[in-house]
Amino acid sequence: MFPISCPHCNESLSFNNDRSYVCQNNHNFDLSKGGYINLLPVNKKKSKSPGDNDMMVKARRDFLEQGFYDPLMKEIKSVIENELNFSTKELSILDSGCGEGYYSDNALSSLNGLKSTIIGTDISKYAVKHAAKKYKNNFYFVSSIYNLPVKTDSIDLILSVFSPNDSKEFGRILIENGYLIIVSPGENHMKQLAELIYDSFRPHEYNIIEKIELPFSHISTHRKTFKIEINDSGMLQNLLKMTPYYWNTSKQAQTKIENCEAISITCDFNITVFQTV
Ligand SMILES: C[S@@+](CC[C@H](N)C(=O)[O-])C[C@H]1O[C@@H](n2cnc3c(N)ncnc32)[C@H](O)[C@@H]1O
Ligand SMILES: [Zn+2]
Repeated sequence: MFPISCPHCNESLSFNNDRSYVCQNNHNFDLSKGGYINLLPVNKKKSKSPGDNDMMVKARRDFLEQGFYDPLMKEIKSVIENELNFSTKELSILDSGCGEGYYSDNALSSLNGLKSTIIGTDISKYAVKHAAKKYKNNFYFVSSIYNLPVKTDSIDLILSVFSPNDSKEFGRILIENGYLIIVSPGENHMKQLAELIYDSFRPHEYNIIEKIELPFSHISTHRKTFKIEINDSGMLQNLLKMTPYYWNTSKQAQTKIENCEAISITCDFNITVFQTV
């Protein structure tokens, strides 16, 4: 089943011809040349180009393509395959705040040999464009996670990696006993990068369990920690552009980063599993 709905009237969207998707009320959405659709209504945009810009998206793509976060990606896949129980053999999965699609394709495809429809959404059209271009087996669309053009009770699993979350909207689109996996920063995430930028490092205190409300109950949390070795200042700058630190980096700190030839950085993640009750 194609779980996408019209952002204006919530009716089902279907493929109209080679070039667009349409609902029964004739709301029409062009399929871009890159193979994605934009389902973010203009009146819901808070800025001209919301979400990550092209520079941030390219930096993240170049960083992830080097495999630095493969241990996280593999851990997410292992949690899904070993811990979650699905009552269906054909899954509908949403990568929420998907960026350029690295996790949708690498962590969510071929789960225990199950068939799946993978959809991904992000508010950044640059991110969605990159995802659709690279991962043609999945379906990507521009939308906000606070107002998802996705059918009620249609999704078996949502993955949200370092992206905003909305319990109510996620709860609406998930089936009963559907799963939500949220990846958030662990306390020492990017410690050494922060120390290059600020005088001292303040451990992250983000508590996702407090933030996710009914209809979810907390099932488990898995911590994944590893170190990455970066021996190239261009790659370190890519990493910086992926973090909120980028916007608070002084000229002095920027120079330190440009001159840094090698650094070992702690990556620290919490993978938290929730289920609808
Ligand atoms: C830190 S990035 C993570 C991207 C991807 N999940 C990854 O880990 O590679 C956060 C993403 O959330 C997106 N985002 C921010 N606000 C959003 C919203 N309201 N709805 C959908 N996506 C949003 C940004 O455009 C960005 O791509
Ligand atoms: Zn419509």
